[in-house]
Amino acid sequence: MSYYQQAFDVTSLPSWRALQEHRLAMQNFHMREAFLSDPGRFDEFSTSSCGLFLDYSKNLITPETRDLLVNLAREAGVEQAARAMFDGEPVNASERRPALHTALRRPVGDSLLIDGHNIMRDVHAALAQMTDIVGRIHNKLWRGYSDRAITDVVNIGIGGSYLGPELVSEALLPYTQHGVRCHYLANIDGSEFHELTARLNAETTLFIISSKTFGTLETLKNAQAARTWYLASGGSEERLYRHFIAVTSNIPAAIEFGIREKNIFPMWDWVGGRYSLWSAIGLPTALAIGMANFKDLLSGAYAMDCHFRREPFENNMPVLLAMLGVWYGNFWGAQSHAILPYDHYLRNFVKHLQQMDMESNGKSVRQDGSPVSCETGPVIWGGVGCNGQHAYHQLLHQGTLLIPADFIVPVVSHNPVADHHQWLYANCLSQSQALMLGKSREEAEAELRAKGLPEAEVKRLAPHKVIPGNRPSNTLVMETLNPSRLGALIALYEHKVFVQGVIWGINSFDQWGVELGKELGKNVYGRLTSYEAPPAEDSSTQGLIDYFRGRHRG
Ligand code: F6P
Repeated sequence: MSYYQQAFDVTSLPSWRALQEHRLAMQNFHMREAFLSDPGRFDEFSTSSCGLFLDYSKNLITPETRDLLVNLAREAGVEQAARAMFDGEPVNASERRPALHTALRRPVGDSLLIDGHNIMRDVHAALAQMTDIVGRIHNKLWRGYSDRAITDVVNIGIGGSYLGPELVSEALLPYTQHGVRCHYLANIDGSEFHELTARLNAETTLFIISSKTFGTLETLKNAQAARTWYLASGGSEERLYRHFIAVTSNIPAAIEFGIREKNIFPMWDWVGGRYSLWSAIGLPTALAIGMANFKDLLSGAYAMDCHFRREPFENNMPVLLAMLGVWYGNFWGAQSHAILPYDHYLRNFVKHLQQMDMESNGKSVRQDGSPVSCETGPVIWGGVGCNGQHAYHQLLHQGTLLIPADFIVPVVSHNPVADHHQWLYANCLSQSQALMLGKSREEAEAELRAKGLPEAEVKRLAPHKVIPGNRPSNTLVMETLNPSRLGALIALYEHKVFVQGVIWGINSFDQWGVELGKELGKNVYGRLTSYEAPPAEDSSTQGLIDYFRGRHRG
């Protein structure tokens, strides 16, 4: 029986109980002392692969902790689960589908049979189709209705059909080619549409309607609005095909919208939306950075796939990150995880990870429908450093919550300005150091005395200056952020999320929770726009409907 068919309770595994006991033994563990007593701690707890260097020495762990966490991963069947995922078994059990985003980055020549069909042919045919359109747009062979070349591409899509491509095209801005500008239109908020189109010229704008289902409300509404805008701006129905293309698995719906079949790029139900940036959903990215860079992105991710499959768990980056997350979430009561990239180009990384992690592991039943018996996915939050230091880092340092953090920083900047990058890197390191070291009462008092403050002032101020320290973090370092390292970085987190899902026994590839809001949204819309509709189920919702209708009466 495959792992996704089993209803095992992870908390009953011997390795889980061993970790519970170990947690008690670690109650008084202090990283500051651990670093003092072991000069080799950094070497012991750091590793590198695929152009990424991971320092995980600033964690509440000993070698024994790592052994126990790795034992848990083994006992929970992570290896078998990974094999099932890579081989295309229906690991998304509730939807009876495989989750084969890893196939999207496998090299030419590989084959992978799903229901007797070699999907690698489809993957590489789609890449060829992408190469063709990217070439035609870059070489100005694809022209708009007035025969002018395309300068701006607008991706209309939301969730996975937006966050991944946006992350990649922003992160790889230094690799932009042929001056094609990428824009993203996701929200149904008319202000977003207005602000974007005000900056565009319909003659030179290409819209990509990116929707796996071609049924997502926000995307379809924006697509209709874009079409109306194009026609109102002088575009013709006959040449609409030059301005609207689609990426979808719902070909009839795209044709119905008016897209020519040969301008529809494929998506497949074996790729989850939040894992789809590697497919034709990444077309806006490919248009921005060119196919060679896009393929480098894929090969970076593929390198991480190989690392994840082959490397022993003790040295396996996704497994280590995942099990550290389990350690804090399930044994130390951490409820959130901060992602702190010290790189302007990674400023959208948190947004992408929020969907990747929280839509995947925000679950409370196991694969077989039985309730979980432990906490599952944490809240993922954060933002780009140093900005966060002047905002929410205060809570990381002195708040009452334990919040593990991942610092991510390149050692080389794309844009050196004086000594800015040295300062940026210094800030990144000093934040993780401060979280770990903290400041004791004695140190705080000594510091105040050294400033010549009277003893009463020293006593008054010292408690406010104490920083508990012992707060865990990982640091991921790389050379300049390039396509292949970015691919490896994103794939690292995909596999981290996967491993955690396996530990908790949940399905990381469905997202039923988002459906109720969509259904209720239709009901509320009906009540906002029609007086015939029956009242809402609750007085709060009805009161707010009345408030809106009061403003829009007549
Ligand atoms: O509502 C959630 C969701 O289904 C995501 O999982 C998905 O990435 C997003 O909507 C967009 O879906 P689609 O690509 O089908 O428009």
